[in-house]
Amino acid sequence: MDNEEVITLTIGGAQINPIITLPSSSTILQLKRMIMERIGVQVERQHLLYNKILLKDNNIINHYIHEATAEVCLSVNLFMDERIINITVSNENFNLQLTVNKADKVIDLKNKIGVVFAFPAMGIDLWQMNRKMEEYEMLSKYYLNEGSVVKMSRIYGPFWEVPTGRRDGRVSISAETLNGNLPAPFSNISSLKQNFASKGLSVKDLVVLSGGHTIGTSHCSSFDSRLYNFTGKGDTDPSLDPNYVVHLKKICKPKDTTTIVEMDPGSFKTFDEDYYTLVAKRRGLFESDAALLNDNETRDYVKLQSATHGSTFAKDFAESMVKMGKIGVLTGKAGEIRKHCAFVI
Ligand code: HEM
Repeated sequence: MDNEEVITLTIGGAQINPIITLPSSSTILQLKRMIMERIGVQVERQHLLYNKILLKDNNIINHYIHEATAEVCLSVNLFMDERIINITVSNENFNLQLTVNKADKVIDLKNKIGVVFAFPAMGIDLWQMNRKMEEYEMLSKYYLNEGSVVKMSRIYGPFWEVPTGRRDGRVSISAETLNGNLPAPFSNISSLKQNFASKGLSVKDLVVLSGGHTIGTSHCSSFDSRLYNFTGKGDTDPSLDPNYVVHLKKICKPKDTTTIVEMDPGSFKTFDEDYYTLVAKRRGLFESDAALLNDNETRDYVKLQSATHGSTFAKDFAESMVKMGKIGVLTGKAGEIRKHCAFVI
């Protein structure tokens, strides 16, 4: 590569990984200035590494790098007297003031929060500028400064041990959700039972896992036939509480494909047993939720959880989730075991 060539660098290790294109004859100092323009980290704080070698300011880029594209790693130099900072951790219910060391890991901050509120660090998610903070990264990676605000989210909910080593595929094809893999929201109880059985899941798993609808939202289009055209005569689904129909019609107009509705209104971000109380009151959003009242075993479970504040729901949910994790595991050399469950390696 001669001096006239252009090189494209991804700056790894930064909170927002910028891509920078510049002549390969540029100096490392020039590169650092561009990084400062993009993400605001002062030049004198930048440590750039390539293949674990520290890049020196006065050298030119192609002294170190001979490819057209490469990733250099940025770490931010912390001045000792600036390591200790005060930040605010906030969610919709509280603002918590904490003193942290920028050289600490995110998990240390989670543990501190956990100690204050007496709940496990595992159930806490922290967000800085809409980016989820990874547990084993240093706080400095997220450019926290004195007075920074970190958002916290927590859904409560049970914990369970996940058997490791599951082989998953490397592609995700949305059409595969159809073809009987995921039940439709208008399924009746017999097709739900059949669908779950075809995956090795029991009737109990069906009613327990349906409780997952305690969190999240649904598009109006997933249930609006129950409001406007249940049997093709402009009627409503008689199995849905008529007062709830009136309420839902205010939010979902006919043929609305964009509006979303909380499935468990008021606590759709909290994992609790309210789903069963709703279903028992004929306020389950989907026909598949309402269908749980049409079978003795599923109805008894709905009634029991709704009457006992979900006495066994958390434990049952954990067990059924582990069972669900055993569906369709690949074997041999097919697919991959993920290091991070949300990404293909
Ligand atoms: C029993 C059969 C099931 C049916 C028919 C079903 C159907 C649906 C539908 C139609 C939606 C809304 C999609 C939309 O319009 O945006 C939804 C959302 C959701 N479902 Fe299910 N589901 C079932 C089982 C499950 C299970 C087993 C779980 C997990 C244990 C689950 C967890 C969720 C969650 C968390 C959401 C909310 C997603 C979000 O907020 O974006 N569902 N489900």
